[in-house]
Amino acid sequence: MTDTANKPASTAANKLMLDPRITQAKALLREAMLEHMEPLNQVRPAIEELKVPYQQALEHTAALRGGGLFFPYLGSGLGSGPFVELGDGSVKLDFITGIGVHFYGHNHPDLLDTSVDAALQDTIMQGNLQQNLDTRTLLDLMIQLAKINPESKLQHCFLTSSGSMANDNAFKLALQHNHPADRIIAFEHNFCGRTIAMASVTDKAAYRVGIPTALNVDYVPYFDEADPEGSTKKAVDALKRLIKRYPDRYALMKFEIIQGEGGYNLASRDFFVQLMSICKENNIAVMADEIQSFGRTTMPFAFQHYKLDEYIDLVNIGKLSQVCATFFTEEYKPKPGLISQTFTSSGTQIRAGIRIADEFLNGNLFGDNGKIMKLSNLMREKLQAIAEKHPGKISGPYGLGGMIAFTPFDGSLEKVKKLMMDLYDDGFLCFIAGGNPVFRLRMLPPIPAIDESHIELAAEMIEKAITRID
Ligand SMILES: Cc1ncc(COP(=O)(O)O)c(C=O)c1O
Repeated sequence: MTDTANKPASTAANKLMLDPRITQAKALLREAMLEHMEPLNQVRPAIEELKVPYQQALEHTAALRGGGLFFPYLGSGLGSGPFVELGDGSVKLDFITGIGVHFYGHNHPDLLDTSVDAALQDTIMQGNLQQNLDTRTLLDLMIQLAKINPESKLQHCFLTSSGSMANDNAFKLALQHNHPADRIIAFEHNFCGRTIAMASVTDKAAYRVGIPTALNVDYVPYFDEADPEGSTKKAVDALKRLIKRYPDRYALMKFEIIQGEGGYNLASRDFFVQLMSICKENNIAVMADEIQSFGRTTMPFAFQHYKLDEYIDLVNIGKLSQVCATFFTEEYKPKPGLISQTFTSSGTQIRAGIRIADEFLNGNLFGDNGKIMKLSNLMREKLQAIAEKHPGKISGPYGLGGMIAFTPFDGSLEKVKKLMMDLYDDGFLCFIAGGNPVFRLRMLPPIPAIDESHIELAAEMIEKAITRID
């Protein structure tokens, strides 16, 4: 017998991962990174000598990309949890996180480890013909998440490169399955993405100026928290009218369960149940767009928070999962050739996605007493207290869990933008939403990377800024 006959079979890649030099190198990288992150634990202004070169970098970037950046923001590449250092040496408190992408904050040590593991892999990107074994691990975890409740019929998960692509894939699955139905229903004020097809669905005229219509879309009004029964009836009536006008022509209804760009609007379970039941009766696929809401409520998916599992045929995620994905039931499995792409994702994203999905399954983020709701409740209390202390200055809070918003002043674009930019200059990052008709400021804080002290600091900064504006 040879020596190797007694050893369990292992790939060279596995042996590399177990090499003690890699473990040592990772510990050293972590130590160095944490040491250099240390000074970035508070908001601070720009370093005087860096102001001019930073301004030049901003102008040059704007000229090259054919338009200025929304914020004068170019990161230095280092941060510390919710704090991020910019190229001018300033440090900001980041409660917008790339509109919900950097849920784990800046320089999360575990994500350093997953990135090093990924960097040791053979390629940067993985795609249609060649994916690594990691893909299977990620898919396993994703399906476990989607099937937390036994009522879920979701069986499959197709990874992709952006939220828009995930939505596009789901539309294709529904259109193919329900052919010749060729129309789609969505809510008023929904956001769906930026491709030509997604711009046809997103209910914002400015985002499709000069762009041809790629999909036939009809709209149903969303829930109004001020008029639950009336608004539910309006939506139900509108849906029934559409189905009557175009019988057998609807392939899918897109449910953006919590409206993100629309202004952090919520609906009731009954509202969804009534509309989804009508879809089911008419063979219209029920698709949940959870690209912004995934990982933000008491459950991994908002459809689980609202106990809608039994109705969901398709669901899309993106942003904080790092890898975007379309989940679907056996019924909506595509025919060969319908969906594919060169880039599924980078190895770094896939490894990070595995780490995140694992924490979603086994950590303490979810539930009424999980970290998301605890910190969200604290932020909501703080906003409420500011609203009471400074009448007329802010109203709200709005949203749910890790999606938190408030309306500053009268909600006019001018005043909301002014406050957002004042907060930016003070060192606090948040972003505008809504406009239907009032605008709001929204936050997507990096929950796993923060504690109560960061919420307190955010509230202090908001209070200070609103008292400066009349
Ligand atoms: C609800 C929703 N759908 C779709 C998208 C589009 O995702 P992406 O920007 O990754 O294409 C977004 C992005 O903000 C979103 O919030």
